[in-house]
Amino acid sequence: FWGGVPMGPPDVILGITEAYKRDTDPKKVNLGVGAYRDDAGKPHILPSVRKAEENLFNRHMNHEYAPIAGDATFTNAVAKLALGEDSPALRNKTNCTVQSLSGTGALRLGLEFVTKHYGGVKELWLPNPTWGNHPQICNMISLPHKKYRYYDPKTHGFDLNGACEDITKMPEGSIILLHACAHNPTGVDPKPEEWKQLSQVIKDQKVLPFFDMAYQGFATGNVDNDAFAVRLFEKEGHHIMLAQSFAKNMGLYGERVGALTFLCPDQETAAKMMSQVKIMIRTIYSNPAINGARIVSEILNNPELNQMWLSDVKEMADRIISMRKELRDGIEGRGNPQKWNHITDQIGMFCYTGLKPNQVERLTKEFHIYLTKDGRISVAGISSKNVDYVAEAIHKVTS
Ligand code: LMR
Repeated sequence: FWGGVPMGPPDVILGITEAYKRDTDPKKVNLGVGAYRDDAGKPHILPSVRKAEENLFNRHMNHEYAPIAGDATFTNAVAKLALGEDSPALRNKTNCTVQSLSGTGALRLGLEFVTKHYGGVKELWLPNPTWGNHPQICNMISLPHKKYRYYDPKTHGFDLNGACEDITKMPEGSIILLHACAHNPTGVDPKPEEWKQLSQVIKDQKVLPFFDMAYQGFATGNVDNDAFAVRLFEKEGHHIMLAQSFAKNMGLYGERVGALTFLCPDQETAAKMMSQVKIMIRTIYSNPAINGARIVSEILNNPELNQMWLSDVKEMADRIISMRKELRDGIEGRGNPQKWNHITDQIGMFCYTGLKPNQVERLTKEFHIYLTKDGRISVAGISSKNVDYVAEAIHKVTS
């Protein structure tokens, strides 16, 4: 029956972790997947998360089903975290927010909702480049996707003119995917003024913005600053869609906890949207997992834990910033002929190094350093223990 099933390729990001695990060399370094490591190179459990887990354990909670859309203490808190205290949608209750299976689940649910219910042009515009899973999700649900200009390899920066030009050519009513902050893979975000221009062009073109916010807190170390674009777009009247993930900013990778939000024109539309999203959820996973959502909810709804979490996030963001500096110094200090300022100019978890595929291959084959083929490195995987080794290896393959 299954003889016609072809072998699929390994995942472009998670496949790297599989290869890394198979490598037995003690010097090996995994800079592939975007997962935070502490300075000893170990997975990091945030102190605020630990405390939340203790609180939950001591409450001896049951394991009943969550509501289909997730618990309201969770969905209200996460919507507020993204949209802010002054959000008109939250004030007027015109948002439709559901718990999702982390960021990927939110994207999938949101885009599948588009294929079924969206009245505009069912076509998604992705930044070039973007996270490898974005096009894959579209392919899986037969949603056409195209690229708009985003990253300029010449400047290692954001191509504002190219992006605006491409947006003006998008069919009215199509959908644009925007990385809310800490763009993956480039680490290049529009500046506030540039977001304002983007908002205007997107509005003029009547395009629907879908924000993917997987790194709130990782760009600047401050969750409110990192929500700038999302909050600006709401203020400017966009009915955005929003995918949130708590994998990175709470270190809850394996808990798979996130949220999907639609900002709707009125309460009645929000209620109709909610009824339809619930039907979709019910047929995919019935209702969401409770543990991760309880942790997130405990942190966001308990003022003391919330404060603790904000400093936990900042600590992670700061460690990454210091590793960027050490890596750059390590490469430049060896007299490397190329420019490496983009390592410290870029923000968030990733550095888009500009390494060519053959250089990436050498890093992996000769130095046991694992990274994606496009030259992206997860700076979160660098520590004071391996930074010198990584700098030496990058220097060697580029000079
Ligand atoms: C990444 O880009 O490395 C992360 O978002 C992890 C993933 O699921 O790909």
